[in-house]
Amino acid sequence: MTATAIILAAGMGTRMKSARPKVLHGIAGRPMLRHLIAACEAAFERIVVVTGPGMEAVAEAARPHACVVQQERLGTAHAALQAADLFGTGDVAVLYGDNPLIGAATLRRLRERLAQGDAGLVLLATRPDDPGRYGRVLARDGDVERIVEWADASAAERTETLCNAGVFVAAAGRMRAWLEAVRADNAKREYYLTDIVAGARAEAVRVAAVEAPFAECRGVNSRLELAEAEASVQRALRLAAMEGGASLIGPETVFLAADTVLEPDTVVGPYVVFGPGVTVRTGAVVRAHSHLEGCEVGAEAVVGPFARLRPGTVLGKGAHVGNFVELKAASLGAGAKANHLAYIGDATVGARSNIGAGTITCNYDGVDKHRTTIGADVFVGSDSVLVAPLALGDGAFVAAGSTITEDVPERAMALGRARQVTKPGRAPDLRARQAAKLKKD
Ligand code: UD1
Ligand code: CA
Repeated sequence: MTATAIILAAGMGTRMKSARPKVLHGIAGRPMLRHLIAACEAAFERIVVVTGPGMEAVAEAARPHACVVQQERLGTAHAALQAADLFGTGDVAVLYGDNPLIGAATLRRLRERLAQGDAGLVLLATRPDDPGRYGRVLARDGDVERIVEWADASAAERTETLCNAGVFVAAAGRMRAWLEAVRADNAKREYYLTDIVAGARAEAVRVAAVEAPFAECRGVNSRLELAEAEASVQRALRLAAMEGGASLIGPETVFLAADTVLEPDTVVGPYVVFGPGVTVRTGAVVRAHSHLEGCEVGAEAVVGPFARLRPGTVLGKGAHVGNFVELKAASLGAGAKANHLAYIGDATVGARSNIGAGTITCNYDGVDKHRTTIGADVFVGSDSVLVAPLALGDGAFVAAGSTITEDVPERAMALGRARQVTKPGRAPDLRARQAAKLKKD
């Protein structure tokens, strides 16, 4: 039967002190909401996101999944009810958008626990080192009796270490009825989702808790908790990369994105940052202090130190990109090199071509972007300015210091610079005049 996940994301995230909705803040280069959606896609057949008024950006990030708007933020139970028409007839899970790191395997465990049949409501719980302000799960003989919110808890209840991690799974009909029965009689005058536990117990329905490690269950309510979640995810990503056969030299200094692919036998130096969408093929080396996003590094390629690969960059097998070289929407063919101080944007560089130090593509005229197409086996001398749109044919040679504005045919040599003037013996005269000027001053 179809199971539906309802993700609550209408809250303002007041403690973030941000104009951006909380669930759009990123962890490992991906908005929190997308982490949770990815896990839900692997564990549920349907996903509905509850957003707030004016939160179109959240709806955009939720695509292609459905969204409903909670017009007034009256609490988590009220938020879940806004999606009641979309609960379907199977099981329903309600999740908090700000508990973004829960994995698909854990979500499947919750569904399986419900399928065992003895419990009518299953929830996710965790034991943090510091239970802080999480809602406390009160159980007796292994059965959950009640969840008490921190604000409403007695001193004795606050000593309970089992905390609510914010996933509740039940049959759709029951979930709807329990949500409708929730009242706002608590410290915050809010409709608490957590009160469905008491609702189920009032009907003598058993409530079971499934426990998962805190690393998966942490909530993000503040910038500090966001940074802690980032650190925790980075640790896990580094470990997974190394287990997958990548060497990280100084793993604690390498920052990965949730989707970074490091094939076996890649080597990543210290202080390397991967934005979203990077694949590094086998045998490639990314040296220290490089920054990569939206790019593919071919097998055995060498990048950095201090290289910047921006979106749309593709490096062929064995290509070299050295220090202070920036590439954007550019491809380097197999064995091509840009070893020092270059900007290659909106360009194609053929196999084995060499881009000299200080070369730049002038790809932007203030309005439009233009492409530079460089063939195979081309030599571009140092400090050349390639004014796009431009094509350099296979085997062409551009002399150092050229400004090239016209296409260069195959195997042609192009020079585009002022002729040098040399005046024999004139240096001492010049120095004498300079010295006289200094004395006068
Ligand atoms: C909630 C739980 C608490 C649990 C903690 C785990 C309740 C009452 N409390 O507390 O037991 O330990 O999460 O992190 O459920 N939201 C809406 N509409 C609203 C209110 C909230 O969509 O009217 C959304 C928020 O965007 C957020 C989520 O629901 O994603 C949780 O709300 P939040 O206010 O952060 O609850 P906590 O106080 O953290
Ligand atoms: Ca929260």
